[in-house]
Amino acid sequence: MKEIIGVELKTRRVDFDKCKTDLLAVGHFSDAKGLAKINSLLNGKLDGAIEHLMKLGDFKGKEGTSAIVYGNGKIGAERVVLIGLGEKKKASLDTVRKAAANAANKAVTMKVAILSLALHGAFEGRLDLGSMGRAMAEGTYFGSYRYDEFVTESEDGRLDSLKCELIDSDSAKTKRLNKGLSGGNVIGKAQSYARTLANRPGNIINPAKLATIAKELAGSSPNLSCTVFDEKQLAAKGMGGVLAVGSGSQSKPRFIVLKYHPAGKAASSRTTIGLVGKAITFDSGGINIKPSAKMDEMKLDKSGGIAVLGTMKAMAELKLPINAYGIIPSAENLPSGTSYRPGDIITTFSGKTVEVQNTDAEGRMILCDGLSYAEKQNCDVIIDIATLTSACRVALGKYMAGLMGNDEKLVKQLQRAAEDSGEKVWAMPSGDEYAEEMKSKIADLKNIGSKWGGACTAAAFLRQFVGEKKWAHLDIAGMEIFEEATEFATQGASGFGVRLLTTYLMNLCK
Ligand code: BES
Ligand code: MN
Ligand code: ZN
Repeated sequence: MKEIIGVELKTRRVDFDKCKTDLLAVGHFSDAKGLAKINSLLNGKLDGAIEHLMKLGDFKGKEGTSAIVYGNGKIGAERVVLIGLGEKKKASLDTVRKAAANAANKAVTMKVAILSLALHGAFEGRLDLGSMGRAMAEGTYFGSYRYDEFVTESEDGRLDSLKCELIDSDSAKTKRLNKGLSGGNVIGKAQSYARTLANRPGNIINPAKLATIAKELAGSSPNLSCTVFDEKQLAAKGMGGVLAVGSGSQSKPRFIVLKYHPAGKAASSRTTIGLVGKAITFDSGGINIKPSAKMDEMKLDKSGGIAVLGTMKAMAELKLPINAYGIIPSAENLPSGTSYRPGDIITTFSGKTVEVQNTDAEGRMILCDGLSYAEKQNCDVIIDIATLTSACRVALGKYMAGLMGNDEKLVKQLQRAAEDSGEKVWAMPSGDEYAEEMKSKIADLKNIGSKWGGACTAAAFLRQFVGEKKWAHLDIAGMEIFEEATEFATQGASGFGVRLLTTYLMNLCK
């Protein structure tokens, strides 16, 4: 199988007009009066070509747009790409990240060998250079990402790796950009890793395969370890939720536990975070089978678990001073003669019993065992992430993940991480009214509520498996996928959650 496109990132001090490169990316705000300093310098050397193009109305600086000007030997660069940054007052770190993604996307499509980014120039000191360095690094990975490991017959080949540099004429500035670059490099790489794993279909990744991948990841770091429970161990432990969902498939379920313990101080002196991710390697709905339209997208129903995997990879590479568990219950939800059925009563790992009213509400059936496990490991904070409900997708669309929780401070910290990472969340309720709907007459709980508020009732179900622990839930249904390619990303898995969760953890360690 082909390797995914690599990204090589560094900073370089060089004069903007002398920078020898294939593609030099600079930014422009739609409401800027005149050209930013760098753009003005380049425009002068290019005999007014940038101004001319704008006068013609070919480029206005709208976010998501770009225009190319050729160097013609007048400057070091072969090409300059102007990247639209939108309105100045709306600009944030995500503007920088998306601009870099836009440029990197172009660079891969054009197959240039070197991309030089000077996108920070247009911000003229409005944002911290270190943060912009990190955002540009993340964006470069994001925009250059392609998923083509199974394409054996492509017409004109593609890049093996993109060489990318963040440039400035002032070495004090490249130094500051470089401060953020290493973190951005780790996070960007982890997100691309997550996207590839998520994009792999159900015949390539099943629960056992995912467990092998988690073990490989643990093998790559001295601070990670991995334990996997197979179906026999699941039965011995009484993890009835995971077993029930996995019972219809030949590919047996697994319960994956990654542990991160950094070197140094005694483990007991550090906060322990439990990340729990839903990893349904394919969700057909089971006996309550889904309609056939777009059912293929349910290969992405493992995206929460994979976001946890990507976050564990990032935290190990960043050597963050915390303890963490990455808990990934994994199963394939298929209909067969051995499937769990509507009406079944399942005893979960917690001891609580659940009446199954719909086999397609399987995410909560595996997550509840994952949450109980995290609670039993005595995690100080538990955060779960899951493509849980289409109701959440209906409520929030493709722009934000639902965020529920039982601790105000934790919710605020995740909202903060969302702002910093550009992976947005919106707070939603999951309290007593919703929990009331999840009561069963013949068991402790049932696995669906009424017709309304499906994202909230699902969260209210999960809430009952964390005991007194601080807990938050991210419903990423709809966020795991880009249905169409954009200027910033290819179609397919988004890797949503890796940036959000890693940023949350980094902020904790500040
Ligand atoms: N994996 C789905 C939710 C989903 C839908 C994720 C669309 C991404 C895109 C989940 O397992 C599911 O099927 N949920 C049901 C729950 C219902 C039966 C209560 C749903 O949302 O329809
Ligand atoms: Mn389902
Ligand atoms: Zn599902």
